[in-house]
Amino acid sequence: MSLFWRIFGLNALVLGVATALLLWAPVTVSVPVLLTEAVVLVGGLAVMLVANAALLRVGLAPLDRLARLMTTVDLLRPGQRLPVTGQGGVADLIRAFNEMLDRLETERATSSARALSAQEAERRRIAQELHDEVGQSMTAVLLELKRAADRTPDQELREELQHAQETTRESLDEVRRLARRLRPGVLEDLGLISALTALAGDFSTHTGLIVRRRFGTDLPALDRERELVLYRVAQESLTNVARHADAERVEVGLRRTDDGVELSVTDDGRGIGLAREGAGIRGMRERALLVGATLEVDSRPGDGTRVRLSVPTEDGEETTEASA
Ligand SMILES: Nc1ncnc2c1ncn2[C@@H]1O[C@H](COP(=O)(O)OP(=O)(O)OP(=O)(O)O)[C@@H](O)[C@H]1O
Ligand SMILES: [Mg+2]
Repeated sequence: MSLFWRIFGLNALVLGVATALLLWAPVTVSVPVLLTEAVVLVGGLAVMLVANAALLRVGLAPLDRLARLMTTVDLLRPGQRLPVTGQGGVADLIRAFNEMLDRLETERATSSARALSAQEAERRRIAQELHDEVGQSMTAVLLELKRAADRTPDQELREELQHAQETTRESLDEVRRLARRLRPGVLEDLGLISALTALAGDFSTHTGLIVRRRFGTDLPALDRERELVLYRVAQESLTNVARHADAERVEVGLRRTDDGVELSVTDDGRGIGLAREGAGIRGMRERALLVGATLEVDSRPGDGTRVRLSVPTEDGEETTEASA
């Protein structure tokens, strides 16, 4: 039934019942109207309005649900759909809306895949340049400083040169660390477990937090894209712990699940509370979508935060053993 006929039908029903009551009930209206008659009429009108409102509410409930979903739908949490009930106008509207969500989710996934792969390519390029250009020239400066320090007879100048050498060496380390963060070469060369171990080690050194690793030994083989998603989510989660959690301990876990692997990063900090998701968490959701993974962020006030990413293996049942 179209929306027009639905509303018309509901109104006709209420008016029909009211007219039937007038026809068969022993009521008369005098001129001028008596007080008791006016009370009966106003009472009748009130009953009609209440009945009409109740019927309209029931009749238009699917539209309310549609409006609610329209205002809350989030393309980064795909799969939210309304059940198509009944036939005609409202059902057509819900069906069209569901189809529009299908299209938008596909487009969103494609465009974020494109953006993320462009971002990875750019990071790789910058990392390469940091390593090849900046790293090389700093190494050259370091050698020159060393040569100058060795040659000068002036003790004071030698100390200054050695100090400059020390500073340059620290900066070189920083550049290398930056390049590693931008392009996790160890991920490509040695695999996920080694990359996560290095990440956790680096994190612990730089933040002073206690990092515990729990990596399963029976993990399934994963392709590069999935490994990179797992790595980047671990990276952002750890960065969030360092920046926001005020925690003492973090646990990074990787375990096998029925259909793939699950990464978890759990801290004992202050919890997310009412904070809104920023670019970091939304970025993790986007990456998760790339490989059909699901991301959950659980947090209880004062009881830390846990980020969990469940990544299915390619065909859902690839279970080749990988060395851990
Ligand atoms: N482990 C955590 N413990 C406590 N609060 C957290 C934690 N992770 C995230 N938050 C809160 O959630 C908010 C959103 O995090 P998100 O990573 O999306 O953005 P951000 O870290 O503020 O910025 P960026 O875009 O640089 O990542 C943070 O501002 C912070 O308040
Ligand atoms: Mg963040």
